[in-house]
Amino acid sequence: MPVLGPVLLAAARSDSVRRLVSAAPVTRQVVDRFVAGERLGQALATTRALAARGFDVTLDHLGEDVTDRAQAMRSRDAYLSLAEALTGERLGVRAEMSVKLSAFGQALPGGHDIAYRNVLPVVEAAAAAGTTVTLDMEDHTTVDSTLAILGALRERFPQTGAVVQSYLYRTEADCQVLTAAGARVRLVKGAYREPAAVAYSGRREVDRAYVRCLKVLLAGPGYAMVATHDPRLLAVAQALAARSGRDRDAYEFQMLFGVREAEQRRLAEQGHRVRVYVPYGTDWYAYFMRRLAERPANLAFFARSLLTRS
Ligand code: FDA
Repeated sequence: MPVLGPVLLAAARSDSVRRLVSAAPVTRQVVDRFVAGERLGQALATTRALAARGFDVTLDHLGEDVTDRAQAMRSRDAYLSLAEALTGERLGVRAEMSVKLSAFGQALPGGHDIAYRNVLPVVEAAAAAGTTVTLDMEDHTTVDSTLAILGALRERFPQTGAVVQSYLYRTEADCQVLTAAGARVRLVKGAYREPAAVAYSGRREVDRAYVRCLKVLLAGPGYAMVATHDPRLLAVAQALAARSGRDRDAYEFQMLFGVREAEQRRLAEQGHRVRVYVPYGTDWYAYFMRRLAERPANLAFFARSLLTRS
């Protein structure tokens, strides 16, 4: 992670910095690079455009860390509207949905049950739309709850997926369990600020752990979703998949909207399934700050646009 990464990740959870950044007039144009728009209609237009170019999509209605039940229900309702739109537009075959359980109330008192009750109708609606849901993974304190909710959802909807983060020491073991159960698993490096007691902090260690997890997922019976923009890891994944004779229908690559688009096209042109993670909605602040934290050049670009406008 770049030097400023931890500072930006702390800022991602600060209300005062949120107000400052959100109010800056030039923020919008930088945000637009990573977010499809504030409205559902814009997200659907982006989905249609990506599908026409041969990509699959996972849609994220932005929002996280809700502080009351009413907000959690609004998140649920936004996803129910999304599922309805996917049904109406017959886009379920190309687009799945990614949800953050903290947007469904996971951090509230009794939040595990609240999040489960809120996400279940979304998973049902996704199935009715011919698609599925992937549970994003948030900070390490949420992993046990999220994986338990995944297990409960998979009893009726086995196609429901989850994300695992290679920076956590526990993740290789989680991969073993999840793939043995035949689960859909998205492997990422991890985007939160984590203590050394639970996570690797060195880039090399995180990458090595990513390769170990990849080996487990690509050897197992589950569906592997290889989510990274890292050229070296993409090459390793392609080599491992080819070596294990893995069917191209048994894994896919995933990247974020607005990040390394040439690489997205290159993989798709080689015949790989490539899914683009498309966030939309008004609550883009924390997502945006994590994207800035991942790459110093993004921050420089943001700072330059602030300076040239002031
Ligand atoms: P790395 O950060 O090393 O980047 C490799 C290269 O990719 C960089 O050198 C740069 O060229 C490019 N790049 C990466 N990020 C960029 C950016 N923001 N802007 C411009 N270029 C960039 N995390 C999490 O904790 N929970 C989750 O649920 C998810 N979900 C998720 C879904 C999908 C589809 C993706 C692709 C990623 C996530 N993540 C996530 C984020 C993930 O943990 C990680 O922070 C980012 O993917 C960046 O890591 P890379 O693997 O791309 O490597």
